[in-house]
Amino acid sequence: VKNPIVAKWSERIEHALKEYFSKKDPSCEPLDRAMAYSVLAGGKRIRPLLTFMVYKSINEKNNPTDIIEMTLAIELLHTYSLIHDDLPSMDDDDLRRGKPTNHMVFGEAIAILAGDALHSEAFEILIKTGPKQITAEKRICILGEFCDAIGHRGMVAGQVMDLGAEDQEIDIDHLQLLHRRKTGALIRFSARLGAHLADATESQFSAITAYSEELGLLFQVVDDLLDREASVEELGKTPGKDMEQGKSTFPKLIGMEESRCLADQLYQKAILHIQNSNLNTHLLEELALFVRERAY
Ligand code: IPE
Ligand code: IPE
Ligand code: MG
Ligand code: MG
Ligand code: MG
Repeated sequence: VKNPIVAKWSERIEHALKEYFSKKDPSCEPLDRAMAYSVLAGGKRIRPLLTFMVYKSINEKNNPTDIIEMTLAIELLHTYSLIHDDLPSMDDDDLRRGKPTNHMVFGEAIAILAGDALHSEAFEILIKTGPKQITAEKRICILGEFCDAIGHRGMVAGQVMDLGAEDQEIDIDHLQLLHRRKTGALIRFSARLGAHLADATESQFSAITAYSEELGLLFQVVDDLLDREASVEELGKTPGKDMEQGKSTFPKLIGMEESRCLADQLYQKAILHIQNSNLNTHLLEELALFVRERAY
């Protein structure tokens, strides 16, 4: 059962995404359709939710409506990464968000290009939308952090490490670094975007950053666990793929039971970072619990 706060806000994100993709340009068919297909296929919308919750945790009066369009950038970027992650040359998956993957429907070339276009669109949104009072200086700072999170020091580096670690024996530090880059970096950015937009103090920034780093690792540990334990109906993707492809995952390295313990520890650590931090922790705690207990 979905947490009611998470449910309410993800509905608003869902609505904004639908609106964003309501217009299609027939001159480059099927590009817009392919982009919309994967974005609107569902998904937990955890990353924009995190931005919302950080934004609110800094000031209860902050209205997420002011930043909703900007948070869509993260979801588009994330969706590009999923489309490419599923390609035959990468994880070769045919099911995503409960539907055939992008390349299964539109073919590999369009899937690659739809991913490319979503990537650019994310930058466009970060450059052109957001609260009126945002300064150019702050926007450049946000964009710089975004590049760090998604590029060759962040998510892409993580994806390369993930492919390189197939059928390899790697140690726990290597696996942690891989996960922190592949999944953690964008989650960390999502949190820090909320902090930037809410004009967080330095101490709030450090609490939120530390929280999001634990949350990001937690997120991927749970993703690894779910690949082993969840059903295809729950997951909306094919379970058992990690083992099949010899992926280096936490369950492979330390076993299921210890991976669950690690997830519990990461959840506790995330919460600890925001306690006594001059933040309204309620929503951030809810979100961490959701990430720990999610079944998909
Ligand atoms: C899946 O991300 C890929 C990872 C980074 C682990 P999500 O679990 O957030 O996927 P959606 O967006 O809900 O489909
Ligand atoms: C995907 O990680 C991470 C990115 C897309 C950056 P996984 O390969 O574990 O994600 P799933 O399990 O296919 O969703
Ligand atoms: Mg992958
Ligand atoms: Mg994958
Ligand atoms: Mg996975």
